[in-house]
Amino acid sequence: PIVTYHLPDGTATDVDVQVGQTIMDGSTRNNLPGIVAECGGSCSCATCHVHVDATSNGLFAEPAEEETELLEFLDGACDRSRLSCQLVVPDTDERIEIHVVDSR
Ligand code: FES
Repeated sequence: PIVTYHLPDGTATDVDVQVGQTIMDGSTRNNLPGIVAECGGSCSCATCHVHVDATSNGLFAEPAEEETELLEFLDGACDRSRLSCQLVVPDTDERIEIHVVDSR
């Protein structure tokens, strides 16, 4: 599926991410800015924070408790906040819209 990453500088980049990979993978493998992913995807650093666009919200599974707890203590978190290493790309024809938050 095509994932559109809306980057912190206001530009957008489309990446074809394979089903089963994460939104974090699609960003870091293409060296996109904004997703730092310090812990490498083990749901402990929160530097992979993104906002899922309202149009794409239904495409992802609900956050696990671990993820919800990290998000609770994150500056700038909102009800669309997710950790992108926990967002597994589903088999869909829909374009997935992700807003990357500068997480430093
Ligand atoms: Fe560290 Fe997602 S990469 S929590």
